[in-house]
Amino acid sequence: MEAQSRDMASEAKAVHEVLPNVVPLWEVFSTLIPSGPGKMVEPFVWNGKELLKELKRIAYDVKLGGEVERRVLVPVNPGLKKLGLYTATHTIYVGFQIVLPGEVAGAHRHTPFASRFMIKGEAWTTVDGVEISFREGDFITTPRWAWHDHVNRSSEPAIWMDALDTPIPKFLLASTFQDYGEEVQPLMTGDLYTRSVSTGLTPAFSLDWTKAASPPLKFAWNDTYGMLKDLASISDGSPYEGVTVMMKDPSTGRDVSGSLGADMTLLKSGTRTKSHRHTMSVVYYVVKGRGTITVEGKTLPWGESDIIALTPWAYHELANEGPGEAVLFSINDRPLLTSVGVYREEPENK
Ligand SMILES: [Fe+2]
Ligand SMILES: [Fe+2]
Repeated sequence: MEAQSRDMASEAKAVHEVLPNVVPLWEVFSTLIPSGPGKMVEPFVWNGKELLKELKRIAYDVKLGGEVERRVLVPVNPGLKKLGLYTATHTIYVGFQIVLPGEVAGAHRHTPFASRFMIKGEAWTTVDGVEISFREGDFITTPRWAWHDHVNRSSEPAIWMDALDTPIPKFLLASTFQDYGEEVQPLMTGDLYTRSVSTGLTPAFSLDWTKAASPPLKFAWNDTYGMLKDLASISDGSPYEGVTVMMKDPSTGRDVSGSLGADMTLLKSGTRTKSHRHTMSVVYYVVKGRGTITVEGKTLPWGESDIIALTPWAYHELANEGPGEAVLFSINDRPLLTSVGVYREEPENK
């Protein structure tokens, strides 16, 4: 057997010599089919209060326009930074954006899917002519390749978290970007179209707002939080994920995009979830409360406004260690993994 593998190895060398652009499978097998995700994505907690403070500090110095398409600070996973990748996990980009009163972040479009979770203030985003206002706690989506611009008509700065799937189109060599050429788009229907999609109230007469294939969605904080509170009053939720609601497109029942999904989780006071792992990675934004996340035995504390990156296929548990409830908004890549057929989850058998 040993002699045989030595023969195979020397034969392999001969393959390299004869065919420089061909490799024997056994030499690259573990690279092609690794037994686990490796250490590329590190579990990490960014101090959100410091990040938001820095965002406000630079806001008046860094002017929008030219190179600064958007004024955004981007949490970068330390494991990915080493590889020249500027995202929170290998599939999820999040960025913290500030738009000052009266400012316009000009219209453009791109193949990455985008979504926004408002942290402070109010802004108006126009998506393919449909204007959507969003304020603290609201979550909105921008479908792929839809023109979008952001305007702040209020008297306070608007700060939100963008969540995009930039690594996915990039990996697929399908990432494209285009400027609109003008600052803002003409409005088509105000927010009527979005309201129709969200509520199911469809006009019984003909209107020319035929973007239904991929509508922008809005999940208002009062609806999401109200649902969580009602659920928490009758259930402790999942022992692994707490009281969690998934945000779904009400017109299709599907996730908000083909790649990324969005959840909101309420952890009751004293909750400690059971250790488990899944192939999806997750980025959490802590809306309120404080606690810890333990990933593969390493415990990291988190508090209000912090951002947490959860490694795929790593055992983890969340604990609420504050006096009251904790609420965490999160973005995951479950839809992508599910559609490819590689979503897996399992509890830790301790
Ligand atoms: Fe954009
Ligand atoms: Fe989990």
